[in-house]
Order: sequence, then structure tokens, then C-alpha cells
Amino acid sequence: MELKEAIEKRRTIRDFQDKVIPGNILKYAIDNGFKAPTYNHLREWDFIIINSVETKLTLVESERLDQSLDANTLEALFRNEDEIMKEMYLEAIPKQKKMILEAPSVVIVVFRPKTRVADAKRIYDLNCLASVWSCIQNFLLSLAEHDVYGVTFIPQNISLIKKNLGIPEELEVASIIPVGYKAENAKTLKQKSVNAPERIHYEHW
Ligand SMILES: Cc1cc2nc3c(=O)[nH]c(=O)nc-3n(C[C@H](O)[C@H](O)[C@H](O)COP(=O)(O)O)c2cc1C
Repeated sequence: MELKEAIEKRRTIRDFQDKVIPGNILKYAIDNGFKAPTYNHLREWDFIIINSVETKLTLVESERLDQSLDANTLEALFRNEDEIMKEMYLEAIPKQKKMILEAPSVVIVVFRPKTRVADAKRIYDLNCLASVWSCIQNFLLSLAEHDVYGVTFIPQNISLIKKNLGIPEELEVASIIPVGYKAENAKTLKQKSVNAPERIHYEHW
């Protein structure tokens, strides 16, 4: 597949079919993840593949996704926001629990931080985070190539997730990614269109 085609195909999907992803597709995407640029040449990333409902429930509980917000509260929260952004949040927020439970696999991407997140003071300290996100992008593009999609969920209660899943204390969780084949009724939201030439600056801003 052409790179452009994979880039255009990759979209965030939050509704999945009940269909197992073949292990070789996940492995291909992870192999390609490891080809991403990395700040220290070490590619200190790990992937945890979760298939069981029990572990998915552990994630939902760790993130306290049980408490849902009603539609009116949500609408009020985003009343004055950009329409495309509002549409995304109104679609995404109610699905956070469901997408973790219903995705055939959930992949947790773990990285070794250069500086503890709490101690980071400069962009340079976040090179480890920038690198792992390059890896995640390769991973998502490689899945899209095989009609598999994901949604990058960023956990809030990382310490609890690390404790519950036995992730070494010194590592960090970059993202929890429910992945699967698109459900028939899956919504693909409008992407905010950007006029790239207006964002390109030459010599100075
Ligand atoms: C750093 C990052 C954090 C995100 N966090 C969440 C999240 O917690 N829950 C969610 O449903 N989607 C999350 N997303 C997905 C975005 O909502 C999605 O990428 C965005 O709306 C653009 O849509 P597209 O990926 O289809 O182009 C996140 C994406 C990124 C890059």
C-alpha cells in the first residue's frame, strides 16, 4: 500500500466488530513501530496485548470509567467550543468504557522515561515521549494497512494501572490503544481541515 493511502486510511475508530485480529497483523504493526525514530537509539518500548475481558475490566476500573456523564451535562461542557472539536468530544466521551471492553484487543504501549514525567522541565526532557509517539504512529499506520483501526486513550491513573498489570514502577504508560475492525455503524468524524500553506513559514514566523 502507498504511504499516502495508509495515512489517509488511518482514522480513530471507537466502535469495533467482534472479530479477532490475527496475531501476525499485530506483530507486523509492532515490528514497524520499532522502526520509528528514537531520541537515544535504544527504542525502550514495550507492548502489552490484552485480549481477556478480565484485564479490560481492570483497566476500566483503574480509570474509573464506570461513572458516565449524561448528554445534557456533556453538551453544556462544550457549548462554546469549536464545532468539530465539540462533535468529537460528544462522540468520544460516552464511548471510553465501551471501546476498551468491546475492542478485540487492547494494546498498552509502555516506555522508559528519560526524566520522570513529574520532574520534566523542558521539551528536551520529553524526548522519550516524543519518540514513543513516533512508534505509535507507525503502529497505527501499519494496522490501517490491514483494515485494523485504533483509538489512543491516555490513562489518568497510571500508577494504579502499573500496579494492577505488574508494569515495572520505573516505566511509563504512553497510551492504551483499543484496536479492531471497524463496526458497520462506526462513526468516522470530520477531520479539522487545515490549509497547510498557511501554516508553513519561511526563514522566520
Ligand atoms: C495524544 C492523544 C490523546 C488522545 N486521547 C484520546 C482519548 O483519551 N480518548 C479518545 O477517545 N480519543 C483520544 N484521542 C483520539 C483523538 O480524539 C483523535 O485522534 C482526533 O479526534 C482526530 O481524529 P483522527 O485520529 O480520526 O484523525 C487522542 C489522540 C491523541 C493523539
